[in-house]
Amino acid sequence: MKEEKKLFIETLGCAMNVRDSEHIIAELGSLENYVLTQNIQEADLIVINTCSVREKPVSKLFSEIGKYNLQKKDGAKIGVCGCTASHLGKEIFKRAPYVSFVIGARNVSKISTAVNNEKFLSVDTDYDESAYAFGEYRNSLYKAYVNISIGCDKKCTYCIVPHTRGEEISIPADLILNEARKAAKNGAKEIFLLGQNVNNYGKRFSGNVRLDMDFSDLLNCIAEIPEVERIRFTSPHPLHMDDKFLETFASNPKVCKSMHMPLQSGSTRILERMKRGYSKEWFLNRALKLREMIPDVSISTDIIVAFPGESDEDFEETLDVMRQVKFEQVFAFKYSARPLTKAAEFTDQIDSEIGSARLERLQLLQDDILDEIALSHLDKIYPVYIDELRNSGYLAGRSDNNALVQIKGDENLLGRTVNIKITNPKRLSLYGELVL
Ligand code: 5AD
Ligand code: SF4
Repeated sequence: MKEEKKLFIETLGCAMNVRDSEHIIAELGSLENYVLTQNIQEADLIVINTCSVREKPVSKLFSEIGKYNLQKKDGAKIGVCGCTASHLGKEIFKRAPYVSFVIGARNVSKISTAVNNEKFLSVDTDYDESAYAFGEYRNSLYKAYVNISIGCDKKCTYCIVPHTRGEEISIPADLILNEARKAAKNGAKEIFLLGQNVNNYGKRFSGNVRLDMDFSDLLNCIAEIPEVERIRFTSPHPLHMDDKFLETFASNPKVCKSMHMPLQSGSTRILERMKRGYSKEWFLNRALKLREMIPDVSISTDIIVAFPGESDEDFEETLDVMRQVKFEQVFAFKYSARPLTKAAEFTDQIDSEIGSARLERLQLLQDDILDEIALSHLDKIYPVYIDELRNSGYLAGRSDNNALVQIKGDENLLGRTVNIKITNPKRLSLYGELVL
């Protein structure tokens, strides 16, 4: 048995990265006897799992590791993983010579080799680790992230991800089902399926696997596992929201009624320049159909403002979609030009101040929408799966349609689904009382 060592890990970016960090923790735990610490000074190894989707998280990487390098104890190693590792590769060693290894977003299974070698680099986006994709460690006892695909084949003109995570490969369904079964048997009643483009599942499998199975079929199979009570997923693509998918989503009672529909822009002209593959009308048709099929559905979205060439009229189209759909949650970003992407070369980039002003207007509109939505929850009773005890002392969980609900209550409610009456609805969280 190797001597016990301490690992500090910081995760930036999306749910995919959170899951990759769980893999890293699992591998280092089982093969190298690392245990987690929250204290930088006592860590033998500091890992930062990075995001490169916008410029900001990339600069954050360098400020964070600079800080860690000053704080770390003698002999401790620093490693960089994830999307910025894929994108910058060995340049990271040049900019930060104290870094011991660089491992890309598609190469996390090499982590054990990396810690045993100096200046180890593995950032190959062709590397197929889809069969490996499951680590034993999970951050939560109550819900389990399960990868269903890796990479992305879409070439949205703003997006760096196809360059950092490589081409899209679906993981064979039997591996996914085994993983979901195992997690559910261990107490995770909620299974959260992960992929860049989940509803394109089944287009191409790893190895030579041929399977006639799409995302709707996969959802139905997972729902057959008796211990699984709730299924969530991210991210689906609006382009692949065909009727079969919407009907499966609506009719399977274990599939939670919250849908992430990344709009990006409400202007068909801008959507074309982004190469999103759908129009404003298609998006509205799908979102409003969902609302019609499932009155309680919640819809969240991602929006980019000030994409190159976005006029005031284009931006108004985005606000128009927001008014029509009334998203329960909006993640809005100012466009950030990324290396290796088509849009970075467009000659009609928008001034940063215009982008900030648009972002502010968008957020004001969304605040009004959220106030209206919050009020509609008052006095309603929702079944909530309690999965977290917060530092504030509140127990927290999600309603079926993904509203964050918090109550004061006993810890033994963790892992249980209870009815909660909403007494104090706020924009970002609903506070309530247990109904017995
Ligand atoms: N600039 C700003 N936002 C971006 N996103 C992706 N690429 C960029 C970019 N270059 C946003 C998209 C995506 C979310 C994860 O990040 O809205 O859905
Ligand atoms: Fe996730 Fe994209 Fe950031 Fe990579 S670049 S961590 S895929 S959000």
